[in-house]
Parts: sequence; structure tokens; C-alpha cells
Amino acid sequence: MTTIQGTQHAVQPTTRPLTRADFPAGFQFGVATSSYQIEGATREDGRGDSIWDTFCREPGRISDGTSGEVACDHYHRWPQDLDLVRSLGVDAYRFSLAWPRIQPDGRGAVNPAGLDFYERLVDGMLERGLRPYATLYHWDLPQALQDAGGWDHRDTAHRFAEYARTVAARLGERVVSYATLNEPWCSSILSYQLGQHAPGLQDRRAALSAAHHLLLGHGEAVKAMRSVVPGSELGIVLNFSPTYPATENPEDRAAARRGDGEFNRWFLEPLLLGEYPADIWEGYGTDVPEVHPGDLEIIRQPLDFLGVNYYTRGYVSASGQKPAGASFTQMGWEVFPQGLTDLLLRLNRDYPVPPMFVTENGAAYPDTLSVEADQTAAVHDAERVHYFAAHLEAVRQASVQGVDVRGYFAWSLMDNFEWAYGYSRRFGLVYVDYADQTRVLKDSGRWYQALASSEAPGP
Ligand code: FCB
Repeated sequence: MTTIQGTQHAVQPTTRPLTRADFPAGFQFGVATSSYQIEGATREDGRGDSIWDTFCREPGRISDGTSGEVACDHYHRWPQDLDLVRSLGVDAYRFSLAWPRIQPDGRGAVNPAGLDFYERLVDGMLERGLRPYATLYHWDLPQALQDAGGWDHRDTAHRFAEYARTVAARLGERVVSYATLNEPWCSSILSYQLGQHAPGLQDRRAALSAAHHLLLGHGEAVKAMRSVVPGSELGIVLNFSPTYPATENPEDRAAARRGDGEFNRWFLEPLLLGEYPADIWEGYGTDVPEVHPGDLEIIRQPLDFLGVNYYTRGYVSASGQKPAGASFTQMGWEVFPQGLTDLLLRLNRDYPVPPMFVTENGAAYPDTLSVEADQTAAVHDAERVHYFAAHLEAVRQASVQGVDVRGYFAWSLMDNFEWAYGYSRRFGLVYVDYADQTRVLKDSGRWYQALASSEAPGP
């Protein structure tokens, strides 16, 4: 497969507002969150510790010294939060389940209160006409499993499949879509090699072993869930960063291909092709994972969907050159909507992909709360509106070129605990005042609401 060449900024927001009529019939508009980032109540109702509780206690890990202990207090405020989702006019809500609420030790006995919580949440969505899109693992591994070796330990994959089956048996087909993992690159490379996420290790061998066991856990979970929820869609969510060489010179092109291989192909190809990319395997030398006979067949399960998380592209330059004329979000991520069109087209062209959903896309900017003349609170986040408009236009362009993309989930419903950045990065359509947990719809939320509430195309 070839690396995409640098088309510059071709996707711009349309001057007319997007409506549902710009997307295929049945296209799902949604918003996304994850358990550790919003729930809080980390010690309530029998929840066990997760690796993020532990990581947040270690000095220096979280830039503002905070944790998810309270977060958006969603564990207590979920009915109002679901009302808020409903008020946006969206079709679907993507959320994740905290494994340590359900199995505090990651194995064996189930904590009934944990499953009860998610059952109420799912029923609450259905009562409001929202379609539940669940993610089983968005990084909050039970600490007890980390103590036994975490994802570096093969048994964690088996434990994950057992947990997945338990959840599916209880929530059943009320959940229309189950994603096994969110972004295994983050829960392996970023967490075990780059040390920036829990458990904060710096060991490439362990990271590649973790990545393999995550993929194995995914495959085993899909196998375990199929017969339990035959009517639900099963898939996985990957983060992609399409990688562009700064120039056509051979060094830049080789570096871009390697970057693409390590970030994108290393996860995608075992899942869809049943093999690791040979060039990257070779480059990893003795750090490659131990692959048992049959593992890759388990990993390559038929999938009902592929979740695509896209925030920015990779830009690779041997000389350290930056893209000309680029703008960046508060994360330092380049705003590059064309990358999303290119990515969807490439996945569609080069791989046997199932239908795709953009399961995350969004931007952090330093928001300020203002008080309007009528005393109501507002957040005028024009840059975020522009980001969403441009990226939805990018999705539309892929769709009109024949890519089967079935939905888009804005990251995020509301501001929340942004991992190693704590509360210092805001991605929400809704502003959260952490002092009193007030929620304020931002201009971007109103913009998305207008789109989601527009008239749907006919059949
Ligand atoms: C993604 C994560 C999500 C959020 C966004 C900004 O990598 O899946 O939880 O932190 O980035």
C-alpha cells in the first residue's frame, strides 16, 4: 500500500450549512464520551481501582495534578446528561463501560451494582430514542490485572473476552453496536513504550506484547459475543493518523511509510488481513511479540464495522520541516480535514473494510465562558465550529466518492478529563464548569444541534 501524497488543504467548510440531506439516508449523528473521563464516583458501589486511578496518584503524571475521581460526576448526573444528548437531536450516543465497575478484580465474580448502572444507562438512552453504541474498553483496566502483568500478560486477553461476554449477556441487543477496544495504539504504545498513559512504562518489547494481547483479546471477545448478541453489530475502534511526507525525497518518503506502518498498519493489518506488516515487523527486531499458532486467525474476526477516530495527520520530514500555513488546536494537532477524506478513501480502496463510522473527531481550544446581555451563559467557540464543519465536509466528500461511512460521533459530548492533560483541555460541545458541574451548550453544540435536527433525506 502506498502512503498518501500531500494534497494541501483541499477540504474547506462549505459556505452553506450542512444538513442531513448532505449525508446518506440512515447516517447516524452522535456524540461520544468514555467512562473514566466523565463518570467520577471511582470508589462507589463496589468499583475496583483502574490503572488510571493508580496513574493519577503518581506525582507528575497528570499535568494539572488532577484525576477522574469526580470528573463530570456523570455517574450521578446521567439522567440530565442523557437529556442533554437528546436535546442535541442526535441519533446515537457512544459511551464506554468501566471494566472495574463490573469486575472489580478483572476476573471472576461480577459486581451487580456495576452492571445495574450500565443497564439503567442503556435503558435511559432507549427511553430517549437514542441508539446505544458501547465501547467495552476505553483504557480503564482493573488494577488487579495490571498487578498480574497487564496487557503484557497473555491471560489478560482471555479475561477481556470473559468480561465482554458477561456484558453482552446482560445488556444484550439493546446495545446496537459493541466496539471491543478503543484505540489499541494508545493502550499499548502510548502507555507501555512512550510512558504517557497508564501504566506509564517505557519498554518497547512490553508495548508490542501489549498490542498483540489487546488484538487477541479483541478477537476472542468478538468470538465470545457473536452467539450471545447475534443482532448487535460488533467491531473495533482504531485511531488513525494518515502520514504524509513533507517532500518527495526518499528519506521523507521512507520515514512516512515507517510512521504509517507503526501507527496505522500495525493494528489494521492483523485485524483485516490476518498478518503483521512485514516491513515493520523486520524493523522491530527482537522486540516483536510472541505470536502463538492460531492467534492471527482469532484476531481476524469478521467485523460488522470499523470505528475510525481521526484528529490529525502525521507529517514527516527528515529535516524537521513543519507544514506551511497550517493551524493547530490547543493539543498542538494540525487541523487537516483533507486527511480524513484521504484516510476513508484509502481504507476503502486498499483494505477489505466493513462499513465504517467516524467514532471520534473533535478539537480542544481554550474556551471562555461569557455572560450574555440576557444573563445567560455562552461559549463562543468559533474555531471548534469551523473544525467540525470542515471535518464533516471531509466525511461527506468521502461518502459521495463511494465510501460506505455510516455515522459520525463528535468528540465529545462535554468537556472532561483529558487523560495526561487533566482538565486543561476542553473538547466538549458542552462546557462543564467543574466548580459546580454546570453544563453550558457552546456555539459548536448549537451548530451540531442544528445539523442533527435538520430534515432527514427521504428513503
Ligand atoms: C482520543 C481518545 C479520547 C480523547 C480524545 C481527545 O485518543 O480516544 O478518549 O481523549 O483522544
